[in-house]
Order: sequence, then structure tokens, then C-alpha cells
Amino acid sequence: MRVISRIDEVHEFLDEVRAQKKTIGLVPTMGFLHKGHIALIERSIKENDITMVTIFVNPLQFAEGEDLSSYPRDLHNDKEQCDAAGVDLLFSPSHEEMYSQQVLTSIQIKDLTNNMEGESRPTHFSGVATVVAKLFNIVGLCNAYFGEKDWQQLQIITKMAHDLSFRVRVFGCPTVRHSDGLALSSRNAYLTPKERKSATVLSRSLQKASETVQSGERSTSVIMAQIIEEISTEPLVSLDYIEIVEGRSLKSINKIKEGSRILLAANVGEARLIDNVDPYVGIQ
Ligand code: PAJ
Repeated sequence: MRVISRIDEVHEFLDEVRAQKKTIGLVPTMGFLHKGHIALIERSIKENDITMVTIFVNPLQFAEGEDLSSYPRDLHNDKEQCDAAGVDLLFSPSHEEMYSQQVLTSIQIKDLTNNMEGESRPTHFSGVATVVAKLFNIVGLCNAYFGEKDWQQLQIITKMAHDLSFRVRVFGCPTVRHSDGLALSSRNAYLTPKERKSATVLSRSLQKASETVQSGERSTSVIMAQIIEEISTEPLVSLDYIEIVEGRSLKSINKIKEGSRILLAANVGEARLIDNVDPYVGIQ
């Protein structure tokens, strides 16, 4: 596996790859890799000749007072995991390499960023879109893999890639979970054992809501009330939002139908956790 920290070296490496008519799979991450990230990497390896992983904790997507400085990092372990998974190129740029000058350009995506994470973290998605646009420009023609765990992010990146005609096909991959249902997340590292146990209420409430939908209930207010009630049984978990939306447009709906998505965010101790489900499928 090649490990590169400079943008011009990425160009050089990928020019060579393209000259050989090989396809490129891209997996952008902020590191502290877990099996959710590895699932994206494995999918990319299966579908492309060359797989490139990026590790960069992007300051643009953290607001003042958020966990940028404490965000978990372990580049040594990440490298080992990437190597073992069969990654061809690991790009881990420094802050200076990515933002050598003050950044005056930012990408704004309308409508999709108004609610949920966009409402709770107003500058977040502009920071995500800007760094992902930068990565798409650095890499060029490729297939890029993102997790459904960050459902709103996935819709925003898909729309941005289309709107700005990036030569990138965006693919969503299912959420990888612990056996007790908790979605894998780098931020789970913040949880104490007690909080870790309490956090399972998030996926459990989404699964129970899915079962209610599957037995015929369609009212979003009934389903939301059920989830709020379930989560309120865990004093360590404080719900930030719960929304039921049309899965692609992210618009709120009154009646659940095919393509709807239930999304939530909660604070558990120091960790802000998000999860979501297709109620017709449930937690898998
Ligand atoms: P990060 O949180 O490191 O996640 C990198 C990718 O892994 C994202 O596409 C995310 O959705 C996916 N992922 C995380 N947990 C997952 C899980 N349990 N199952 C499946 N996929 C999972 O998301 C980001 O980084 C950043 O915002 C980034 C897109 C890299 C831009 O900085």
C-alpha cells in the first residue's frame, strides 16, 4: 500500500492508474477506522481495480465548541487496517496540504441541509461538501463510497456530485452495527460502559418503530411518539431530533410510504450519535 500526504503525488499515482485503464474506488474518511469504514473499503475493492482511502479530520465541518480537538485519531492503526484490507493508496494530508491558504470558497446545498443535522449543526454540511468537492477534484473520475449511517450526508453528496457534474458515481452502503444494534461510529469511543449500554435504545427504538410500520401503522406522529417514549426510558440518552422524511428529498411527511426514512440524533454523555432506518426493512 502506498501512503501519500501530498496532492501532487496523488495526481501522479492516479495518472499512472488511469493510463493503465484501471478503475478507481474512493473511500473518504476522518480515520479512527472501524468495521463500518472497512465495509465501504471492501465494497470498493470488489467493484474497482484500485482503492484509495482518504483520512483527514476536516476542520471545516466542525463548529466552534464541537469535538475537533478531541476527535479520536490513530493513524498507525488505520494504516494497518487499510493495508490488511487490501487498500492500494492511503491519502492522509496535513491541514496545511489541504488548506494552505485561508479558504474563501464554500459549497452550499439548499433544502437538503435545512433540517436535522443541518439545523443542529448549521455550518456542518457546507464544511462536508467543501472537503468532499475538494477530494472529488483531487481524484477525478472514480466511484465513491459513503455510508447510509450518515443518511443526510449521503443525499447531500449525491446531489452535489450531480449538480456540479463531478465525474464521480456516488454509492451508499448499509450501516454496519454491533451485535446489540448500536451503529458503529468513531464517536462511540467517547461512551462510558454505562452510556454504551444505554445507547442501544437508539437502534432498538428504530427497530420497534419499523415493526409498528410493518404491522400497518402509517402515521408519522404515532411513530415519532413511540420512539420518543422508548428513548425517554433511558435517562443517559437525550434526544436531539427525530424526523420522518421522504428519503431522497429529506422533506418531512405525515404518512409513511415506500422510500421514507426515520432519522434521529441524540446526545449520550460526550457523544453525539446519529442513526436512521428504512422502516420497511428495519435494523439489520
Ligand atoms: P467518517 O465519519 O469517518 O465516515 C466515513 C464514511 O464511513 C462515511 O461515508 C460514513 O457514512 C461511513 N460510516 C461511518 N460509520 C458507518 C457504519 N457504521 N456503517 C457504514 N458506514 C459508516 O463521514 C465522514 O467521515 C466525513 O464527513 C467525510 C465524508 C469523510 C468528510 O469529511
